[in-house]
Amino acid sequence: MAKIQQGVGPQYPQVVVLVGATGDLARRKLLPGLFHLVNAGFIPGCRIIGVSLDDLDADGFRDVARSALDEFAARKVSPAAWEAFAAILDYVPLAAGAPALREAVQRAEASLGRETRRLHYLSVPPSAALPVVRMLGEAGLVENARIVMEKPFGTDLQSAVSLNAHLHEVFAEEQIFRIDHFLGKEPAQNILAFRFANGLFEPIWNRNFIDHVQIDVPETLGLGKRAGFYEQTGAYRDMVVTHLFQILAFMAMEPPTSLEPVPISEEKNKVFRSMLPIAPHDVVRGQYSGYRKEEGVDPESDTETFIALKCHIDNWRWAGVPFYLRTGKRMAQGQRIISIAFREPPKSMFPPNSGVGSQGPDHLTFDLADASKMSLSFYGKRPGPGMRLDKLSLQFAMRDTGLIGEVLEAYERLILDAMRGDRTLFTTAEGIERLWQVSTPLLEQPPPVRLYEQGSWGPKPVHQLIAPHAWRLPFERVWRDPDNTGS
Ligand code: BG6
Repeated sequence: MAKIQQGVGPQYPQVVVLVGATGDLARRKLLPGLFHLVNAGFIPGCRIIGVSLDDLDADGFRDVARSALDEFAARKVSPAAWEAFAAILDYVPLAAGAPALREAVQRAEASLGRETRRLHYLSVPPSAALPVVRMLGEAGLVENARIVMEKPFGTDLQSAVSLNAHLHEVFAEEQIFRIDHFLGKEPAQNILAFRFANGLFEPIWNRNFIDHVQIDVPETLGLGKRAGFYEQTGAYRDMVVTHLFQILAFMAMEPPTSLEPVPISEEKNKVFRSMLPIAPHDVVRGQYSGYRKEEGVDPESDTETFIALKCHIDNWRWAGVPFYLRTGKRMAQGQRIISIAFREPPKSMFPPNSGVGSQGPDHLTFDLADASKMSLSFYGKRPGPGMRLDKLSLQFAMRDTGLIGEVLEAYERLILDAMRGDRTLFTTAEGIERLWQVSTPLLEQPPPVRLYEQGSWGPKPVHQLIAPHAWRLPFERVWRDPDNTGS
């Protein structure tokens, strides 16, 4: 209750219609996330109606939820908490159609006994999204409702425009919450705090002081059971056009007039408007060896499991500053960093063998892991005789705050925001359509995919792409372990 009183939870009880309730995302994130929100008292009453193609009843769905929690819940599930959660679950198979869904929602609403709101969460592949939206319309479940849509929002400009137009036939734009879970990550929001709550860095946050920026999200994960989704999506649509570009916007946007949804979206969309179209010759597409042999993958698949690219934001703040983005599956390490390289000093008075500049320029780095970190690297004198320089760093780890237990997982944070009607961390139709527009040259003429070894850092041309600079991962980025300071 305390949390509701603090105003972080929604005002009204919620009926959640979770479509795709037995799928990968629901099991990994949404069911554990909803469990935590309910159990921790963030929501003043909740009912969850699972919907999927599976022919289950409410008890069958409870089994799915229980095994999802056993496998993926980050926090302990006590028997009492599980009992309470199981009691709010219900299920309607998709085949039962709109009337059965309507009935289940009405039943759930009646059981909550006071004014409620509806949250429809669509965790379904793109091809299934519109039929589900129409079914919600047919079932009369649009009123008092918000709808959370999972990416990808279309597959190119034309399909995104058409998807948005069809969505708007049923739901008003204010009801639509397009989720990008990277924006729900605590460290992503910390970029805004860091930039706009401090006077220190904002004056140098521009082309006069920043040389280039890297957004690097290698993953060790493979496809899991997602071959069907991934084959049609690929790394660019799965990660870049959604997550990496959204993070880029937080990093590059002008100060918003306030921390409200409209001013923030406006500034992000200005960044997207200033982006130059992605040139195919600035892109390296890769595919890990063995991908084509995986179950559900076309033996001649051209889908990229890796992508690296250079892009430009052609405005007064960023003209001429390259932004390098990289992400891929089955790479050597799983990391999520934004790394900002500052310009080097114009002249050096240090002796030739001092080591100045030998480890790249000064960097500010954000780690977007849940237990996030930040560091500022710079040259300093190595203790002892003479003048030898070493790359040193100031580092901050969120664990240092002692508040790491307070962090909401990205989906938890965003589900709660959607229930409250707060669109600050959600993306807009306009922004997404613009991102597809800048992607058009690449989508129309993608460079060939190049093979890379599993466990590597991608195909070789990624180094040419970034030359004369170098990828900071894996060579330069070492975090101190906050649990092992050696003191
Ligand atoms: C998802 C992508 O949106 O983000 C996945 O579909 C990817 O392919 C995942 O692995 C990465 O998210 P996180 O939160 O684990 O960095």
